[in-house]
Amino acid sequence: MLNIYQPQPVKIISSTQESADTRLLRLQFIDKKLQADFSFLPGQFVQIGLPEWGECPISICSSPYYSSRYFELTIRNVGALTNKLNSLREGDTVFIRGPYGNGFDVEKFRDLPLLLIGGGCGFVPLRSLVIDYIEERLPNAVLKIFYGCKDESTLLFKKEYAKWNRQAELNVILEKPSKQWAGAKGMITDLLSSKKITANSVAVLVGPPIMYHFVVKELKKKGLKDENIYLSLERKMYCGLGVCQHCAIGPYYVCKDGPIFTYADLKNIPGAI
Ligand SMILES: Cc1cc2nc3c(=O)[nH]c(=O)nc-3n(C[C@H](O)[C@H](O)[C@H](O)COP(=O)(O)OP(=O)(O)OC[C@H]3O[C@@H](n4cnc5c(N)ncnc54)[C@H](O)[C@@H]3O)c2cc1C
Ligand code: FES
Repeated sequence: MLNIYQPQPVKIISSTQESADTRLLRLQFIDKKLQADFSFLPGQFVQIGLPEWGECPISICSSPYYSSRYFELTIRNVGALTNKLNSLREGDTVFIRGPYGNGFDVEKFRDLPLLLIGGGCGFVPLRSLVIDYIEERLPNAVLKIFYGCKDESTLLFKKEYAKWNRQAELNVILEKPSKQWAGAKGMITDLLSSKKITANSVAVLVGPPIMYHFVVKELKKKGLKDENIYLSLERKMYCGLGVCQHCAIGPYYVCKDGPIFTYADLKNIPGAI
């Protein structure tokens, strides 16, 4: 019987520098059958770790469409484990459990204008949805991407922007850009307030908690319904399976009932956002 707590070895196929402190890892299960059977939803995460280093939750940022061949994670150095994982290179082995969490229910997005709103490293899980839209596997007629970062050096997935821009509307804003930056300057809410957004849109937000407060306010001004505003929550996790209670918020476990919630789910839970 498959033990759901048992981490499985995966090989690093490639590791590329995305920004000063962030790397994109392409991974493959060593067991070919596990890889062939692997599937996930955008917004789900895995627990990645190494013996004696522990494990941490990281969102899958590749398209589910390629999941039988490989999957990708983008990891920012914030502590001991993430620094260690980003020091590894092609051919090294790490251990994975998952995928965990609910992921985005893309069927609910069908046919509505879709807004993907990411702040900083929070943009990572949105990349799965962007790739699926670009490859025409998401049916939405309109995709608008709003991406806010501190400066040019912190932007992720830069090599993909030209492709994204051909099929979607990519809006990038930087808080403290260099003098050479010709794009928008300010906070992500400045971008949103200046753009035409229809009230029937679905918005997906991933970023720091402070961003959620201001972005939700702006989206409500545009007339979006609470149940059409999706947010991904980050909490400290251990089991990832709704057992240890470390990630509890109100009646929910972020690892199992989330990490994706609607604003309608969260708005009355103190401290949730
Ligand atoms: C569902 C989910 C998806 C995530 N996806 C990504 C991702 O795609 N890419 C990525 O780089 N990071 C992601 N994270 C955050 C990542 O799990 C943490 O950065 C990681 O656990 C840090 O481990 P560490 O041992 O290197 O640092 P630690 O020494 O454990 O922590 C360093 C600092 O980060 C804070 N921290 C640690 N874990 C978390 C957490 N879960 N939430 C908020 N703050 C935390 C600590 O309080 C401390 O300030 C995700 C977290 C969750 C819950
Ligand atoms: S991490 Fe254990 S219950 Fe969520």
